[in-house]
Amino acid sequence: MRTFGQALLLLAGALPRQHGVAALSATEWRKQSIYQVVTDRFARTDLSTTAPCNPADQVYCGGTWRGLISKLDYIQGMGFTAVWISPVVKQIDGNSKDGSSYHGYWAQDIWAVNPAFGTEADLVELSAALHARGMYLMVDIVTNHMAYMGCGACVDYSQFNPFSSASYFHSHCFIDYNSQTLVEVCWQGSDIVSLPDLRTEDGSVRRIWNDWITQMISKYSIDGLRVDSAKHVETSFWSSFSDAAGVYLLGEVFHGDPLYVAPYQKYLDGVADYPSYYGILRAFQSPSGNISQLIATLNTLRGAAQDLSLYGSFLENHDVERFPSFTQDKALAKNAIAFTMLKDGIPINYQGQEQHYAGGGTPRNREALWSSGYPTSSELYTWITRLNQMRTRAIAQDDKYLSYNSHPIYSDEHTIVMRKGYPGSQVVGIFTNVGSSSSATVTLASSATGFEANQALVDVMSCTAYATDPNGGLAVTLANGLPRVLYPTARLASSGICPDLTAPSPTSTSDAACTPAAVDITFNMEMTS
Ligand SMILES: *[C@@H]1O[C@H](CO)[C@@H](O)[C@H](O)[C@H]1NC(C)=O
Repeated sequence: MRTFGQALLLLAGALPRQHGVAALSATEWRKQSIYQVVTDRFARTDLSTTAPCNPADQVYCGGTWRGLISKLDYIQGMGFTAVWISPVVKQIDGNSKDGSSYHGYWAQDIWAVNPAFGTEADLVELSAALHARGMYLMVDIVTNHMAYMGCGACVDYSQFNPFSSASYFHSHCFIDYNSQTLVEVCWQGSDIVSLPDLRTEDGSVRRIWNDWITQMISKYSIDGLRVDSAKHVETSFWSSFSDAAGVYLLGEVFHGDPLYVAPYQKYLDGVADYPSYYGILRAFQSPSGNISQLIATLNTLRGAAQDLSLYGSFLENHDVERFPSFTQDKALAKNAIAFTMLKDGIPINYQGQEQHYAGGGTPRNREALWSSGYPTSSELYTWITRLNQMRTRAIAQDDKYLSYNSHPIYSDEHTIVMRKGYPGSQVVGIFTNVGSSSSATVTLASSATGFEANQALVDVMSCTAYATDPNGGLAVTLANGLPRVLYPTARLASSGICPDLTAPSPTSTSDAACTPAAVDITFNMEMTS
């Protein structure tokens, strides 16, 4: 993986960019907050909302780049600074029991854009519209395979542009996921839609991809890439590709084991945080969720990860069941969303998450956003907005906030308390899975939170004032199963966050001094690896 400095040297010829916005370094990507768009399902060019879109049909529903341009206020209004869009290249035609190519992961011609989403000019315009707002464009890419519909292993390679002969591809085999070699050389797909696996280890294939990505980045002023099927490509592919791209690469390494995922960061700037995703889901999906398993995962990941601040932190995406498909309890969703957005990594929100969409596994998780009517006053839209505000404020107040590894400072059967940030500007998130019909209470010692004696704090989610006791201790009740996100009051001055505070609850601090100190999970906060 290149460093930013090397990238600058390598790309000196390619800069400045078409729209006068310099390519965004990994260092800058850390500070961003990403909104994931499935282009076909976000907004239509005419913004019509009535024509039906049934995700189970797996057909094109009409979303376009022009539609997306028209609805950028909706995304920016929540505080997101970057938009990840579906793959943009031309796809195979047709529909089968495996569906159609509406998602964009079935490439046929990498040198043409998908006409269903718009024209090349439309895509340039989307990029310019984002940059004009100070926002960034992340494009999804697939380098592992092309796609062919009809007959499993029998592929007419002449359909592809480029890669128009069998010599560019591995011969057909089925993946045995116990073998990393077979994961890399065998074919994904089904007996209807096959995904012929490119010989990405060959110089001829690599040269084509490197040339392609250099041109794509330049032509569309792309700021970052989400890399599909990253674990299906041998790791040595990524170094020259990354140099050719010259932007942040976020890899999809779809695996729950931190020890499998973490090494990929040697080759890709960041990886999707699937390990934490599974831990968060299992902890918060019901009042019997497993908090200790989440802690074990977080600890293992922190020990293994090279740089967690460049991971992509998510609760939902187009490949997994939406959180509300497990529970309709909004208090649980609020805990899971807040946990995801405030932990280490770049937050990624999947379209519809902010409207409490509840679709299950693929394709049901790809509902059209327009059926919501894009309300900006809905409960989770405003919840997410506040979380983005809080994170942005913490980053602005302490330039070391992002490099401070968040970690649990307290837990019990139903509660986990996370701290991120050095004393004076730390965010302490208190999360619970008891659900909206219960409440939980925690007492936290100063040694765990880092808060001082008699320090004024605000729960930025409810705008409630708190204060530590003379020993720096704190007792907090999570009413209705809602999480608290505590931040020093002094650090919020003139931020616009909670200008009016609810009066401090008289019981909120008085118990702390005479209650045994909370269990402090010992953690060496200097630990990085
Ligand atoms: C929670 O997960 C841990 C493993 O991480 C396991 O040992 C424990 O039995 C689980 N607890 C419950 C209640 O399932």
